[in-house]
Amino acid sequence: MHHTVDVDNLYFRYPDGREALRGVTLHIAPNVKMGLVGPNGAGKSTLMLHLNGILQGEGSVFVAGMEVKEPNLPYVRAAVGIVFQNPDDQLFSLTVFDDVAFGPLHMGLSHAEVRQRVDEALAAVGMEAYVERSSHHLSVGEKKRIAIATVLSMQPEILVLDEPSAGLDPRARRMLINLLKRLEMTMLISTHDLALVAELGDQTAVMDNGQVVACGETAAILADHALLERHGLVA
Ligand SMILES: Nc1ncnc2c1ncn2[C@@H]1O[C@H](COP(=O)(O)OP(=O)(O)OP(=O)(O)O)[C@@H](O)[C@H]1O
Ligand SMILES: [Mg+2]
Repeated sequence: MHHTVDVDNLYFRYPDGREALRGVTLHIAPNVKMGLVGPNGAGKSTLMLHLNGILQGEGSVFVAGMEVKEPNLPYVRAAVGIVFQNPDDQLFSLTVFDDVAFGPLHMGLSHAEVRQRVDEALAAVGMEAYVERSSHHLSVGEKKRIAIATVLSMQPEILVLDEPSAGLDPRARRMLINLLKRLEMTMLISTHDLALVAELGDQTAVMDNGQVVACGETAAILADHALLERHGLVA
């Protein structure tokens, strides 16, 4: 069966020798929103960086029917939008406009289309008023929202969000959840915010120690108190 994300038996070791992924298997069906939970250091961010080939390990990774390796990477990166855990890794232009326009410009869209993509993406995160601001002179939560806009402007088929609600105030968090609920696309959302997962995730995967240790309907995963306790998800 073909999914939108198919990761099989993925292993990855960082250059310093640390083995961060130890046989990860994860399948996400089209238009499913999947939460990804697990303790600090479980390998969530490392796994996400494999979904568009920023990191490449051993095993197989397919997204949108394409294997994540050269020469597919330009198509893979148009199909998979990743919002990094740290927004400073995502924002590198002088203005918010340039950051959000970067992806669409490189897709070869016209100036008018780029402008429209930027306007829509900034409106989606409630940041229209920031279009001329300097990305580097924003608060953490503001940067996070702009980072999400830089990915939305590409209109990806698969949205990968690494701790999207971290650093957001309650109103911004609510806006984010409502936005993600409205978007009909395949999503993988890593977070320590179990309430966000409960509200948003059709399915939830639990990672620990470089492996996916459980995956299923969100309600069933969140009701399994022993599972959550074993993997440090309840205090
Ligand atoms: N650049 C790196 N070099 C070496 N080891 C790394 C590097 N980045 C992460 N690691 C290690 O890889 C493992 C997985 O890290 P990762 O960032 O994927 O965890 P995570 O589940 O995203 O954690 P968190 O909840 O804190 O974001 C950890 O043991 C971490 O120390
Ligand atoms: Mg992480």
